[in-house]
Formats: sequence, structure tokens, C-alpha cells
Amino acid sequence: MAKLHDLLGLYDRKSPPGTVAETLEQRRERIRQRRAEGKGIRAMPGEERWLQRRCVSSLFGEMQAVEGFARILTECPNVPWELKKKLARITWDEARHMEVYMKMIPKHGARLDEEPDAPFMFALLRDPDPAIRLVSARAGEGLTLDMLLTLREEFEKLGMPEWSRCMDYLLADEVSHFRIMGQGVDTLTSDSPEHRERVDEYRRKLTRAIHKEERGTVYKVAQESREVGGATSEEMQEAKRFQAESAKYQQPS
Ligand SMILES: [Fe+2]
Ligand SMILES: [Fe+2]
Repeated sequence: MAKLHDLLGLYDRKSPPGTVAETLEQRRERIRQRRAEGKGIRAMPGEERWLQRRCVSSLFGEMQAVEGFARILTECPNVPWELKKKLARITWDEARHMEVYMKMIPKHGARLDEEPDAPFMFALLRDPDPAIRLVSARAGEGLTLDMLLTLREEFEKLGMPEWSRCMDYLLADEVSHFRIMGQGVDTLTSDSPEHRERVDEYRRKLTRAIHKEERGTVYKVAQESREVGGATSEEMQEAKRFQAESAKYQQPS
């Protein structure tokens, strides 16, 4: 059966098989080396590896988003038609975003099979309750806003205005997704305060779990984008707390 990277045409056939993915031992050695150099565990903006990792993990994130939104359309018949139309549009946006990252990966020397990525959005977007799926997606979109802001600035520093502009287009899409997810949750829980409370409680737990998994990857909160996307004050506080925790994690230990 054809492998994913073959299908995407991104596989570097010159490398001998088995030398691409990092083993646990190599990973430990890389972290040891980074610490010896006075660096944090994860690569930082400004490092080539950071940009390469972002290209790959963003592509996987977009793939999961396509699947997640499309599955709401096919698996949740009770979602109102107006919301379904918006979700169909978002699915299309996410497919276009995949194309952007597919172009970024070879352009910036990244490799699709360099390191595995956690497909946690697949798991999150399977709940029988569409409001839970949307609130999960909104948590992911918020993180994406923060990431895109840093990527946009990185490309500016690297003297790549076309890629920086490209991140701006992605930001514009993701802000609208973030907003629509919030409105969708409002719609789907409008007839039951108990349902709303359950969804909010789930969001808090999920946010804590995502932040634990992703610490060290976010460098600044996309405050303006989050505000335009209708972030609540609780969500803003969570994002800022995450940024502070993330900064600590980036320090060499
Ligand atoms: Fe996207
Ligand atoms: Fe999105």
C-alpha cells in the first residue's frame, strides 16, 4: 500500500530506509546536547529545527481539522443547517491550509517523516456531542492563532515576506474559525444551561491537557486575533497562563 509521504510526493528517496525517524536514544542525546549548550528542550523560534517542526506538525494539524469538521457534517445530523454550511466552508479552508504546509515542508528543508506527531485532534473530534467537538476544535484553533503569529514574525525576520503574508492569510481564516466555533457552541447549548456547563467544564479540562502536551511550543498569545475571534476573559487568562508556563519550560534545566 502507498505510504502517506509517497502520496504527498514529499519523501526524500535518497535517504536509506530506517535513518530518517529519530530513535528514543537519539532524542535523549539531542536533548542532552541542547542542555549542554544552555538551550531548552524544544527548539525555539530562530532555530531552523523549530521552523521545520512547525511545518510538519501544522500539516498534521490541518489534516486532522479537515477530518474533524467533515465528520461533524456526516455524523451529527442534528446540527442546524446554517451551522453546517459554515462548517463545510471551514473544511474547505483547512484543506487549502494543508496545501500551504505541503509547499512549506520541502521549501524549508523539513521532512514529513522526520518525527512522529500526536494525532490528538482525531480523538477529540469523535465525541457524540457536536458541541464537545466544536469546543475541542476551538481549543485547537486558539493554539493555532498563537502559533501563526510567531510564524509570521519568524518569516519577517528571515526576510521572507511572501511566507509572512501567507501566514497572515491563514490567521485571517483561523480567526473566523475560532469565532464560528464559539458561536456554534452557543447555538448548540442555547436550550440547556446544564449542557452548557458540561461543555464548559470539558473545555477547561481539555485546555489543561493540551497545555501540558504543548508546553514549550507557544511563545506569545495572539491577543488581538483571540479578541477578534470572541475569546472570553477566561480563555484569555488561560492562554496567558499557558504562555508563562511555556516560557518556563523553554528554559534550560
Ligand atoms: Fe487551518
Ligand atoms: Fe481552522
